[in-house]
Amino acid sequence: MKTRITEIFGIKYPIILPGMSWISTPELVAAVCNAGGTGYLATGPLNPEQTRQAIRRIRELTDKPFGAGCTLIMPGAKENAEVMLEEEIPIINVSLGKCDWIAERAHKYGGKVITTVVNEKHAMAAERQGADALQVTGHEAAAHGGQITTFVLIPAIVEKVNIPVVAVGGIADGRGMVAALALGAEGVGMGTRMSMTKESPLHDKTIQAQIEAGIDDTIYSKRFDGIHCRVLKTKSAEKAVKKGMSLPRAMIQSYKISREMDLPYIKLALSVLVQGPKMVMQLAHFASAFDKIKVATEKGDLDYGVQLIGQSQGLINDVPSVKEIMDRTVKEAKAAQKKLGTQLI
Ligand SMILES: Cc1cc2nc3c(=O)[nH]c(=O)nc-3n(C[C@H](O)[C@H](O)[C@H](O)COP(=O)(O)O)c2cc1C
Repeated sequence: MKTRITEIFGIKYPIILPGMSWISTPELVAAVCNAGGTGYLATGPLNPEQTRQAIRRIRELTDKPFGAGCTLIMPGAKENAEVMLEEEIPIINVSLGKCDWIAERAHKYGGKVITTVVNEKHAMAAERQGADALQVTGHEAAAHGGQITTFVLIPAIVEKVNIPVVAVGGIADGRGMVAALALGAEGVGMGTRMSMTKESPLHDKTIQAQIEAGIDDTIYSKRFDGIHCRVLKTKSAEKAVKKGMSLPRAMIQSYKISREMDLPYIKLALSVLVQGPKMVMQLAHFASAFDKIKVATEKGDLDYGVQLIGQSQGLINDVPSVKEIMDRTVKEAKAAQKKLGTQLI
């Protein structure tokens, strides 16, 4: 397959594993890279030293191009981005922040920057800031998809920028891939699909719950972590959304997180406070969600935990290996293209 994304990233298939906390680990990233795509290490729960070790582990597992993600508003994300630049990783995926300084430094060693956006305004800003590509996340996606569906968002953004676009949100197979390419994307990202594979560390109980769930068994709400977010519809998710965020609980959670990530709490609290009251509330929301997502992912606990998931869970009924997914997606895409060739005459 050949698109600007395969050319820029130096990969065989334009298929990407997006960053998923506790799931996009070195093992899963390397499995996708070795199968012809590429993947981003999720660094949200990692401190700089853990990020460095994880990058080195990926390099032991694959000699193919890989990436890592940094959600710039999160505490510790800038420090993690520094590690990515020091380690000269091939691809840096930036979200929720300006990518200019990262792009400038990455370009010096030949690295590429792909910025995640959910609207036209941010897409054009990322291009101006020096991004090499955009990851455009539609409404169907797990976690922080925007208000507009992939089907409308991709052509709208492709019209407005010159850099290539990777479509993310609702894509779980080769049919979805061909549809995204027809809309003007030059690559696809599959989070929900890749989280349900043999190599994924996602707990079996949670995978099973997702297999049983349908396309409408998700909740999309701002009340879970402060930004519109899609999660698996469970009693605990409904409760979390109804209850909203409590500041005292969030402060306790953020203390636990600072200990887990080995970040001094005072440093975390100060970095939050200097960003202003809106940001304090946002980070308190993230802190409150952090623990719930972690236990659903690692322990399969959906009584307290809440799982991030996309609508495409309703299209997924099996747990194959990453290589099987990649080979199948490519085969399905070629079959869909052939079928279209017989229809569009
Ligand atoms: C289990 C799971 C965990 C995720 N964790 C994160 C995360 O920590 N940070 C983030 O920005 N996006 C996260 N995402 C969203 C993905 O990066 C990606 O945008 C999304 O999965 C794409 O949509 P899809 O699931 O329809 O393929 C997560 C997605 C899933 C399924």
